[in-house]
Amino acid sequence: MESLINKIIHGDCIEIMQQIPSDSIDVTFADPPFNLKKKYGTYKDEKDINDYLSWGKQWILEMVRITKPSGSIFLHNIPKWLTYYTGFLNEVADFRQWIAWDAPTAPMGKTLQPSHYGILFYAKNQQKNKFYEIRSPHKRCRKCGYLLKDYGGKKKILHPFGPLVSDIWSDIHRIRHNKHRDPHPCQLPVHLLERILLMSTDEGDVILDPFMGTGTTAVAAARLGRNVIGIDIDPEYVQITQRKLVHESPNSKIEDIWVSFYLGEIVTIVDKDWEALKEFFVIPEDMRHIDFEKIRTNGGVITTVTQDRQLTFNLKEGDCNCY
Ligand SMILES: C[S@@+](CC[C@H](N)C(=O)[O-])C[C@H]1O[C@@H](n2cnc3c(N)ncnc32)[C@H](O)[C@@H]1O
Repeated sequence: MESLINKIIHGDCIEIMQQIPSDSIDVTFADPPFNLKKKYGTYKDEKDINDYLSWGKQWILEMVRITKPSGSIFLHNIPKWLTYYTGFLNEVADFRQWIAWDAPTAPMGKTLQPSHYGILFYAKNQQKNKFYEIRSPHKRCRKCGYLLKDYGGKKKILHPFGPLVSDIWSDIHRIRHNKHRDPHPCQLPVHLLERILLMSTDEGDVILDPFMGTGTTAVAAARLGRNVIGIDIDPEYVQITQRKLVHESPNSKIEDIWVSFYLGEIVTIVDKDWEALKEFFVIPEDMRHIDFEKIRTNGGVITTVTQDRQLTFNLKEGDCNCY
């Protein structure tokens, strides 16, 4: 098992997971092919439904077996397949949440057009599960900067950074520009995985992704100082991930506090870190002003120092968090 840590492995995920001892991985995350005839390099995304589901049951049971009793299992898919996955998982793990990732696509002229993906979140054992509350920034109007929600007389007691994250995630978009995309049909955004890792792992924990694609989970783990085991059946995707990882370092932090950034903005923090983080922000004295005044980073720039390089995130004063 030690020999697999921080390796991106070319192979079949079931065969590789069978080599891993039970109860040894902190978090398993899977984003399998959705059986939607997507054009992958090697894998044919067109299985007979029964084959797709019985294959799904096999790799899901392996994921649960290798996850530690304190660990979590996350499965990303379209709701249609997740309805079957819950049946498999309820037998062997404890349901925590069905996260709706509201990642809108262009309107296609169909009523009830699917516009969310599901992320199932199961604990291997609910009593022992490692979990951290997380926060995202308040949602604001793109034009006027006011809070989108009307909190009425409760503004004074709002959290300065933003609310606890609910089970609907609408602040994280799919990768929208080809220049940010690898040659892979279904690449996830890194800050989606960073959010999952911030709420379920600590620095140094081990995450396994059996369907690594071009390495989103590995990049998130590397930036957050976590370890990873990644598997993909496609040799080219494995190479792309390995090449990307060379340029990554554990730098997604402010001083020694892990946070998730996207385009220079902090998009997820761990709630228990706020006391230490708040010294980096200018918070309005009258909290009612939070309605129209986004909290700013003091000095406008946050610098994080990592072992091998210094990275500066430009957090512009007064920027609006527009989603
Ligand atoms: C939906 S994609 C994962 C994308 C990934 N989350 C990312 O952000 O890049 C599914 C991946 O599963 C891989 N795959 C399909 N069958 C596999 C198997 N039996 N073992 C390992 N990987 C497999 C495909 O090559 C594809 O890259």
